[in-house]
Amino acid sequence: MEKITSLAKRRGFVYQSSEIYGGQNGAWDYGPLGVELKNRIAGAWWKEMTRLHDNIVGLDAAILMHPRTWEASGHVENFTDPLVDCKKCKSRFRADQIPQENLAAKKCPDCGGELTDTRKFNLMFKTHIGPAEDTASIIYLRPETAQGIYVNYKNIIQSNRMKIPFGIAQIGKAFRNEIVTKNFIFRTCEFEQMEMQYFVKPGTDEEWFSEWRKQRWAYYEKLGVKMDHLRWHQHGPDELAHYAKDAYDIEYLFPMGWRELEGVHNRTDYDLGRHTQFSGKDLQYIDQDNNNERYIPYIIETSAGLTRSLLMVFCDAYDEEKVADKGNEDDWRTVLRFHPDLAPVTVAILPLMKKDGLAELAQDIRSELKEDYATDYDQAGAIGRRYRRQDEAGTPFCVTVDYQSKEDGTVTLRFRDSMEQVRVPKAELASRIRQEIKAYKRIK
Ligand code: GAP
Repeated sequence: MEKITSLAKRRGFVYQSSEIYGGQNGAWDYGPLGVELKNRIAGAWWKEMTRLHDNIVGLDAAILMHPRTWEASGHVENFTDPLVDCKKCKSRFRADQIPQENLAAKKCPDCGGELTDTRKFNLMFKTHIGPAEDTASIIYLRPETAQGIYVNYKNIIQSNRMKIPFGIAQIGKAFRNEIVTKNFIFRTCEFEQMEMQYFVKPGTDEEWFSEWRKQRWAYYEKLGVKMDHLRWHQHGPDELAHYAKDAYDIEYLFPMGWRELEGVHNRTDYDLGRHTQFSGKDLQYIDQDNNNERYIPYIIETSAGLTRSLLMVFCDAYDEEKVADKGNEDDWRTVLRFHPDLAPVTVAILPLMKKDGLAELAQDIRSELKEDYATDYDQAGAIGRRYRRQDEAGTPFCVTVDYQSKEDGTVTLRFRDSMEQVRVPKAELASRIRQEIKAYKRIK
C-alpha cells in the first residue's frame, strides 16, 4: 500500500487534505489525474446503470435532508459503531476490531492500560442549520445517498411515468464519522457512493436480488478487473444492516487483504414503509396495469463506493515490470494498466525533438485528437523517460512525432502494455485509437 500511496501522491492522483496544516484525518483531495480517473469510473458506472438500462433513471439529491429522514431510515437509532477508549494512552478503538480477550479484560491492545466501557457511537456528522445552535436546528450530513432516492421515488414515478420494476441511480458524497480511517482512501469520513435502488413487486425481490448480483459481477468483468481478486461474501445474521433481509458484498483483494468494495442488499419494504410512517404520506405504488393493485415496493440496492472503487482500480492496475537487463534502475518500469476507458489520459503526444518543426507538428496532432480524447503533451527529456512517465500515469497510447513524420505524415503509436510500436498515418490516428480501445484486452 505504501508504493500505491506514494505513486498516487507523486503523480497527482491523491493528496492528503490540508497537508500544509499537518493533514486532516479521513479526508483526501483528488489531484489532476485523480479527478479524471474518478470521473471516468463514475462515467462508466453511470453509463452501465442508466444508458444501458431503459428503466433506470438518474437523480442528484441534496446532501442536507430533513432530519426526520434519518429517524425514519433508522440511522439515528441504529447507525452506530461500538467504541472503547484507553484511559492511559487515549487510543480509541472499535470494540469489534480488537481481540476479544482485550475487550473482556478491559486491557488496551497498544499499551496495556485500562479501557473504558463499550459505548455506542453514532457515525452521522451532526451540524446546525441557521444561526441558532439548538436541538431544533440539528441537521445531518447524509451517511448514504440512498435516502435521497427513497424520498423522491413518488416524484420520479409521476414525472417520468416509471413502472415497476424500475431503478433510480445516483452518485454523490456521503459522510461518516469513522473511528478508524486507515489504508489510504479505503475508509474515509468524506467519500462518494454510486448507488442504484431498484423498486420491485414484493415476492419478486429474491429473483431481482439474484439478477443484480449477476449484473454487478459482470460489470467488473467488463471493466477488465482481475477476476481472481474478486469474491462474494454473504452477510451473516450479525453483520446485516438494520434495513437488510439479505446482503452480499463484492470483496476485492486489496494489498491489506480481502475487503468490501460494493454491497448488494435486499432492503425489503423497510425504507418506504418507514418513510410512509414518519411522513404520513402514502408511498404505495399503484399498479395501473393490474387493477390498480397497491403495494409498497421492495428495494434491491447496489451500493458501491466511488472513491473506494478508485483505490481498487489503482491497485488492480499497478504493476512493476522488468523491461531490460542493464543492472540499473532503468531495468524496471512502474506501469498502471488502466482500461483505456478509465485511464485519466488516453493519448500522449511526444515530439522526438523540440526543434526542426517537430514540436509544432506534435501540437497540431494534439489539437486534432483533443476533441475525442484526453491528451497530454510532453517534450521534456529523453524519449525513454517520457514513455516511463506516461506508463506511470497509466496512459495507454503514446504518439511519437519524428523526422519521418515530416516526410511521409506517419507517426509512431506506442502501446503501454506491450510497449510495441507501429507506424500509423496521422490522418488515421483517431480511428486507430478508437479501434484499439474497443478491442482492448488486458494482457497482464
Ligand atoms: N446504502 C447502503 C450503504 O451505504 P454500505 O455497505 O454502508 O451500504 C456501501 O456502503 C459502499 O460505500 C461500501 O461498499 C463502500 O464501497 C462505500 N463506503 C462505505 N463507507 C465508506 C467509507 N467510510 N469510506 C469509503 N467508502 C465507504
